[in-house]
Amino acid sequence: MPFPHTRLRRMRRDDFSRRLMREHTLTVDDLILPVFVHEPAGREAVPSMPGVERLSIDELLKVAGQAVELGIPALVLFPVTAPEAKSLDAAAAWDPDGLAQRAIRALKREFPQLGVITDVALDPYTSHGQDGLLDESGYVVNDQTLDALVRQALSHAEAGADVVAPSDMMDGRIGRIREALEQAGHVNTRILAYSAKYASSFYGPFRDAVGSAGALGKGNKFTYQMDPGNGDEALREVALDLEEGADMVMVKPGMPYLDVVRRVKERFGVPTYAYQVSGEYAMLKAAAQHGWLDERACVLEALLGFKRAGCDGVLTYFALDVARWLKEG
Ligand code: PBG
Repeated sequence: MPFPHTRLRRMRRDDFSRRLMREHTLTVDDLILPVFVHEPAGREAVPSMPGVERLSIDELLKVAGQAVELGIPALVLFPVTAPEAKSLDAAAAWDPDGLAQRAIRALKREFPQLGVITDVALDPYTSHGQDGLLDESGYVVNDQTLDALVRQALSHAEAGADVVAPSDMMDGRIGRIREALEQAGHVNTRILAYSAKYASSFYGPFRDAVGSAGALGKGNKFTYQMDPGNGDEALREVALDLEEGADMVMVKPGMPYLDVVRRVKERFGVPTYAYQVSGEYAMLKAAAQHGWLDERACVLEALLGFKRAGCDGVLTYFALDVARWLKEG
């Protein structure tokens, strides 16, 4: 008879025993900070992401300095491309003097120890806002897009990116990028594959932030991003990306997909990440701003949930705040 011999509340009675039995913790080593960089001078607020700003390279360096000081291991760069830099062939994506490439060089010059991760996908550079190139019918063509993604990834590696993160969901892109990196001598450039990236409505504020929402219009990404109803397919995506040479895999979005994180971690046991995306940030932030949720407590709890699900790290727009909160204890 379990009760009264077994009383689970016994271990919860005191702080010391609660601490001793705690299975998962969140530390600064788990944080990856996404940042938006733009051409104009200074900073510009992103209305649907209160507290997040688009940054000039100068301002980016200040934010990167704070990240380094707080001990955040890495950031991910998202360039906001001017309309005149967008085209049907997305050629600005591999411009050696493009915004992303200049930002990478500036970051690596100032903060060599800070990991620089770059997004590999064509959506900031295509006039239609899709992640790949289109045929006459408007379908995103896979194999021609791969050639463009390889050029983009190589230009990031040449500028000094430590990790390239393909977020485009084309088939075969990890293998093609790995092969090209090896051939160019970038043997230590890591690949963080957005392996299970869902066709999610939670990306809305991000598309406002990078200005791809207007270009995309009523379009969607259903022919390449995953159907939110699928779990098994995510495992197939991860298996292929690992086989093709991914060093790290990601599930995106985060909170509604933590079951997928758990399955990926259990099945493959590889470095596994999740992206707490812009819509997740906006929800938490809006409720906090209304005084409906305690921001700090809820953000820390949400991120601990990512850890419990099996994440080795989380991309989160809250990273700077979280690092400060963790430091304060
Ligand atoms: C683009 C990209 C997107 C995000 C990261 N890279 C948007 C999309 O696929 O439309 C979303 C991130 C977020 O919502 O925070 N390839």
